[in-house]
Amino acid sequence: MSTLTIARPDDWHLHLRDGAMMRAVLPHSAQHFARAIIMPNLVPPVVTSAQAMAYRDRILAALPEGMAFEPLMTLYLTEDTDPDDVAAAHASGLVKAVKLYPAGATTNSASGVADFGKIRATLDRMADIGLPLCVHGEVTDADIDIFDREAVFIDRVLDPLRRATPGLRVVMEHITTSDAVDYARAQGDDLGATITVQHLMLDRNHMLVGGIRPHYYCLPILKRGSHRAALVAAATGTDTRFFLGTDSAPHATDTKENACGCAGCFTAPIALSCIAELFDEAGALDRLEAFTSLNGPAFYGLPPNTEQITLTKGAPIIIPDPVPTDSGTVTVFDPGRPVHWQVQ
Ligand code: NCD
Ligand code: ZN
Repeated sequence: MSTLTIARPDDWHLHLRDGAMMRAVLPHSAQHFARAIIMPNLVPPVVTSAQAMAYRDRILAALPEGMAFEPLMTLYLTEDTDPDDVAAAHASGLVKAVKLYPAGATTNSASGVADFGKIRATLDRMADIGLPLCVHGEVTDADIDIFDREAVFIDRVLDPLRRATPGLRVVMEHITTSDAVDYARAQGDDLGATITVQHLMLDRNHMLVGGIRPHYYCLPILKRGSHRAALVAAATGTDTRFFLGTDSAPHATDTKENACGCAGCFTAPIALSCIAELFDEAGALDRLEAFTSLNGPAFYGLPPNTEQITLTKGAPIIIPDPVPTDSGTVTVFDPGRPVHWQVQ
């Protein structure tokens, strides 16, 4: 097969940032994706419905003429979040999910949750109204090895939290381990899981053998190859609870190529090319559309997009040049191997 036409994809986990950075990266998502769940980890974070509405307006104002893109807004859950504000934001249609960052887990997560008892009322309300909770699933305890933080989170935090809040719809975001895949597979349809481009294409050897590659550093960190294999099997299989969330996370190149480099891979421009390459390799092109365009809307209770896109297979694509912004360039993710699929 050298041409593939599918319903237009959505991105169920995207960092657009704000200001000039947002204006620079937004077209790279809008050219391929119809909608995206917009992460709220700005500085300061998007905590209230008023902040989410203002952020949504800034995104729409930054969209180039003639491009269509629907930002699906999220609220950043804090210990002071007001359940009534969350419920109103959901009722108005503005907000499609609430994001849980354990305090200190990743980029701009300092305002996240340390005492889970303090978010109980909000979680109960979300379960009542059917508003999904998107979870960055890593513990932050200093004594837990960074490679174990996702698996420990499932046991110590995620499973108890779900048991204490029956009916809460949860997205396990950017899963990176076979532990997460196994957990997700064993749950009902109130649980979904997103998988990124980089975690499907790379393992930790790609990041660390023969030199350290800062553009492969993201959180949760890349794991060993057996975990990657479990993620590929989940994404390319028939279980509809797995869907694409790129976690495309732009940082200026000099803050990545740095003695203390930032976490995040800027994958938006080539995300669909990479995903098509993977599904092709796995002999699963017939299931690509489910992963990129059908399973996500089904979980969020939204219709799939009626527009279509076509991908074609040809000579290896050229990785796009770094994207200029007012704070330096942003380097585009390069998987380090040929990618033959291109969005028309
Ligand atoms: C994200 C970012 O840069 O905002 N970084 C990352 O490595 N994925 C934050 C996140 O999603 O954890
Ligand atoms: Zn993210």
